[in-house]
Amino acid sequence: MFAATRATAFAAKRAFSTSAANLSKVAVLGAAGGIGQPLSLLLKENPHVTNLALYDIVNTPGVAADLSHINTNSKVTGHTAANNGLEAALKDAHVVVIPAGVPRKPGMTRDDLFNTNASIVQGLAEAAAKHCPKAHILIISNPVNSTVPIFAEVLKKAGVYDPKRLYGVTTLDVVRASRFVAEVKNKDPKDVKVTVVGGHSGVTIVPLLSQTGFDFTKEELDALTHRIQFGGDEVVKAKDGTGSATLSMAFAGARFANSVLEATVGGKKGVVEPTFVKSDVFAKEGVEYFSTLVELGPEGAEKIHGLGEISEYEQKLIDAALPELKKNIAKGAAF
Ligand code: NAI
Repeated sequence: MFAATRATAFAAKRAFSTSAANLSKVAVLGAAGGIGQPLSLLLKENPHVTNLALYDIVNTPGVAADLSHINTNSKVTGHTAANNGLEAALKDAHVVVIPAGVPRKPGMTRDDLFNTNASIVQGLAEAAAKHCPKAHILIISNPVNSTVPIFAEVLKKAGVYDPKRLYGVTTLDVVRASRFVAEVKNKDPKDVKVTVVGGHSGVTIVPLLSQTGFDFTKEELDALTHRIQFGGDEVVKAKDGTGSATLSMAFAGARFANSVLEATVGGKKGVVEPTFVKSDVFAKEGVEYFSTLVELGPEGAEKIHGLGEISEYEQKLIDAALPELKKNIAKGAAF
């Protein structure tokens, strides 16, 4: 009797630890890149991550060997296209973060990356549909406004699309906005929350500065809005042909991945982040995906918030964003 109870308890514990381990496997696709490496480093520090699977078409064995010496609890594996590496990386993944694809050079818009990155994202989506259809997918690859619809269409075709589990990562806009406003208002950025809605490129990025609790002059509003919308260009220009934001993007991507992990496996309530998801907020206007504050829960994007009260100034920004977003989304869906 005692032995049977013990055996049952042991089996239950084993079942729990196996599923807990699987639940927290995170795969990074494009892991050897400018974003992928520092992002993987930050994920190696995340206590929710039990397995960190790094996939890239080049250089992942080295990156994985290097990270695997860090004495946090997660196990690191490196995969390339050889030996069904993509399948091995994706199998049992709970979260998949995707910074695969080419970045911008000076003078380029994010849309200029479409031709190259659309096919990369499509291929990765086909693999995810097959090997981890239930995973939470975080898309960093640009143009996010189009790569999210591409991913969704592939999942739909495979019959495994769950809109609650597909997120375009717009966190860098939120991080930048907080930093830039803090500079102007001479505050600690940790006390400055800025909701950024819309999409992730130029005029589709709409900061809701009226909701920050600070007052701004018209000049400050114009300058801050422009800087938040085109902050990426500052980095592209400074890097002078060698790429776009990687370190700040890794920080932002790790932050958003952590929010998804906290809500889905950490049991945390009230995790709310802006993210580009399938949304009803402007569906009537024909804009199927949109970023607003989203409450994350055990199943993913649980509750999509509306815009809240916005100023006339912000309404104009939304009016300018919608047609551009609609175009970007249609281009992705049609690909
Ligand atoms: P990178 O060129 O340094 O790294 C990209 C990595 O993707 C490379 O290691 C490359 O080998 C890999 N890759 C290419 N094809 C692949 C495939 N089929 N499967 C797996 N890996 C593949 O570029 P970086 O700077 O890391 O940027 C990556 C992407 O993130 C770009 O599209 C960039 O525009 C985007 N980005 C997005 C931001 C956002 O806020 N969402 C911010 C900054 C960049």
